[in-house]
Amino acid sequence: MIETETEITHPKPVLLSEYQVPVFLIESLQLNFELYDGHTLVSSRMSVRRNPASTQTSKDFMLNGEELTLLSVALNGKKLTEEEYSLTDKTLTIHRVPDAFELTIANKIFPEKNTELSGLYRSRDTYCTQCEAEGFRRITFFPDRPDILTRFTTTLSADQKRYPYLLSNGNLINRGTLEDGRHFATWEDPFKKPCYLFALVAGDFDVIEDFFETQSKRKVALRFYVEKGYGSEAHHALYSLKKAMQWDEETYGREYDLDVYMVVAIADFNMGAMENKGLNIFNTKYILAKPDVATDEDYIHILSVIGHEYFHNWTGNRVTCRDWFQLSLKEGLTVFRDQTFSEDILSSVMRIQDVNVLREAQFPEDAGPLAHSVRPESYIEINNFYTATIYNKGAEVLRMLRTILGVEKFREGMDLYFKRHDGQAVTIEDYVKAMEDVSGINLKQFKRWYSQAGTPIVRAEGRYDQNTKEYTLTLAQSCPDTPGQTGKYPFHIPVKMGLLDEEGSHQDTVLHLTEATQTFTFANIAKKPLPSLLRQFSAPVKLQIDYSDQDLMYLFKHDPDTFNRWEAGQQYATRLMLRFIEQLKKNNTVESLSLPSELISMFEYVLDLQKTHHDLYFLSSLLVLPSEKYIAEQMEVIEVELIHHVRQWMLSALAKQLEKKWLAVYLSHHDDSSTYQFDMKTIGRRQMKNRCLAYLLMLPQHAELGLKQFKGALSKNMTDTLAAMAGLANLDVPSRLLALDAFYQTFKQNALCVDKWFAIQAGSTLPNTLETVKQLMQHPAFDLKNPNKVYALVGAFSRRNLIQLHAKDGSGYAFLREVVQQLNKINPQIASRMLEPLTGFKRYDKERQQLMRKELVGLLETKNLSPDLYELLTKSLK
Ligand code: BES
Ligand code: ZN
Repeated sequence: MIETETEITHPKPVLLSEYQVPVFLIESLQLNFELYDGHTLVSSRMSVRRNPASTQTSKDFMLNGEELTLLSVALNGKKLTEEEYSLTDKTLTIHRVPDAFELTIANKIFPEKNTELSGLYRSRDTYCTQCEAEGFRRITFFPDRPDILTRFTTTLSADQKRYPYLLSNGNLINRGTLEDGRHFATWEDPFKKPCYLFALVAGDFDVIEDFFETQSKRKVALRFYVEKGYGSEAHHALYSLKKAMQWDEETYGREYDLDVYMVVAIADFNMGAMENKGLNIFNTKYILAKPDVATDEDYIHILSVIGHEYFHNWTGNRVTCRDWFQLSLKEGLTVFRDQTFSEDILSSVMRIQDVNVLREAQFPEDAGPLAHSVRPESYIEINNFYTATIYNKGAEVLRMLRTILGVEKFREGMDLYFKRHDGQAVTIEDYVKAMEDVSGINLKQFKRWYSQAGTPIVRAEGRYDQNTKEYTLTLAQSCPDTPGQTGKYPFHIPVKMGLLDEEGSHQDTVLHLTEATQTFTFANIAKKPLPSLLRQFSAPVKLQIDYSDQDLMYLFKHDPDTFNRWEAGQQYATRLMLRFIEQLKKNNTVESLSLPSELISMFEYVLDLQKTHHDLYFLSSLLVLPSEKYIAEQMEVIEVELIHHVRQWMLSALAKQLEKKWLAVYLSHHDDSSTYQFDMKTIGRRQMKNRCLAYLLMLPQHAELGLKQFKGALSKNMTDTLAAMAGLANLDVPSRLLALDAFYQTFKQNALCVDKWFAIQAGSTLPNTLETVKQLMQHPAFDLKNPNKVYALVGAFSRRNLIQLHAKDGSGYAFLREVVQQLNKINPQIASRMLEPLTGFKRYDKERQQLMRKELVGLLETKNLSPDLYELLTKSLK
């Protein structure tokens, strides 16, 4: 065996242009796992044959393998000597192989020591796996790439008492007992799959079981495996799964294809959930829910994540990605599917949340040093590319495609895509080709959305001619340069729009903006209209148009497009906040500011409307001011303090001026007697009254009201409990501690509730929050090895508490660096995600830039720096 030293060279980028088809294919793979305390023995047997599509003539067969102890290799039953293969810390190469052969490998791994949570690891008393993107190579030697599709058969054995459930992909074909109190199970997956979809679980659980009958009348067993004692918290997830299965049949004609669908909930998990074939593995936070411990928001997330992973069965599993540059092929498409699923099942208002995520997470990414296209051309660490661009912008691109083709042609395109590529590993090109073929529309220009990074700006100008009764709309597009990409070509931008006049609105039209500048003419327009553009946010662009305050007010009240009503309110509030910021810069005191009567009347309008309007969920969204992040995005140099102070001042001013109304509306919808229901009507009522409460809790005199709701809801309704506690957490009043302590005492056994408790404190606007966060890191319930805890405490601080992260003395930055440095050793994926808020440092003032840069440069010197952090640091420091 030849062991080469790990060299301290910098990790090299992988390039799309260097893609080559695999030289060898693996027809089938038999895996055997023997799970013991402290170590696991893995043996594999694969049948390999040369790929007829490969032109390479090499007789070397290369497999990936990381942190594995190799025990033996045999080719066609003959044990190989050390001259017949070479081993490095990342690869195993078998020399002089024939064109077809059987390879048998035995290796040993240490799941208990796996803190990266990639590969096979232990979470509490459960063994589980996470293989996407490149975790399978941490389990056994294998060519770990998504374009090798293999038939898997998996046997696992473990102690029967402690691990009564032994699960893997596909159907159970055999099980039995062994010596020493052990037992085994064998699973066979009839569908070929890439190794990133492999999964294995061993543990003891509460099992919730149900059935789903498919449209072709097949019976599918649905099984949820959750921690013992939590069975009662799996019902909403089960309900969500059935909804998703039904929706995919109705909307896309897609049926589930195995006899069993299993979902396992795991407390230590890097991501939200994973679509392993027939055996999804979920972060507990996207499974467990009951009214006293989960909020409406949690319920809504569970529905969409369950949907998302289920939809992957077709968009990702049956048809998968050729390489990781095509990641958006499955993720963008599946996000698009889960978003439209939630819109259909819950409310079209979900679009507002999705656009918020896009604008608060993806737009900054597209404007920063890590900007990349939806189909990137190079990466150093693929784990860094599970980004808002791949996911959320990718989903927007598909939504545009649906707008351009129309719903019916889009569906035909999906059908053709599945028909052509079922069982294949394909590219985004292949997908777009199917859409072109069904529609006859040339999508060459449209494809620039996949290759060009950056958020386009669309500038609109309307002109009305009284004499000719013509309205002309001129649209001009541009797109800023991004790292490595200058001089962008025009995009194909679908602009949904309508013209408003007193009689109402002209029907929705879609304008196709394809040139740098284009003019559209509308004939027979009786009076000067008001344009409503980019309805439903029909393209991921920044729209610039000179509306007067009155125009925005009019749209806010009268646009038939609900999204644009919300948007008009946001634009008006944004405009005000930016004006106030300018004023504060000059005057330095909030005393000089005053709310314009238009804003007050906008709010009053909504608060009156709620008496009769059916959709309180929508109306309550009109009462939310744009976030600090969104305002930051609008500024050349981000002025964290001014943004924060102006926003806080506006919230309190609104609270004071409308105090009676907030209170009245609050009381009219507050209801602590009926049992929890998950439907948009009651969710809307809770949302509305908790919005009112949030305003009231800007004023310390209402702390008692907050505490009253808190006490009444504790152990009954988490939505109301948390809404009250979040408000109280920002007040320096005795009720604050009362609530926080009562919450902890009530829920200290429930990890997900403790996460909420951490997050609320980390997000507090009170001035000593960093100190609190540091103390909480020492709390017995905190654990740096558990990603949920890190997200709850550190993530909430760094992503939701901008003012304190960006404290002038640099204390927030130093803290983050310290945490990232510790995480680098434990879990590089999480470290990388925690570092993200510092990567956009160039958008801040000189002093802050310097402070942030200092921490980034310092981090770059970390010993054993992971490729994940190396990539983020070098790209942002460039
Ligand atoms: N395939 C991903 C999970 C994943 C991501 C595994 C990155 C390994 C690395 C899964 O389908 C996914 O996208 N999950 C999302 C939730 C979803 C609703 C957007 C997640 O985990 O955040
Ligand atoms: Zn996904």
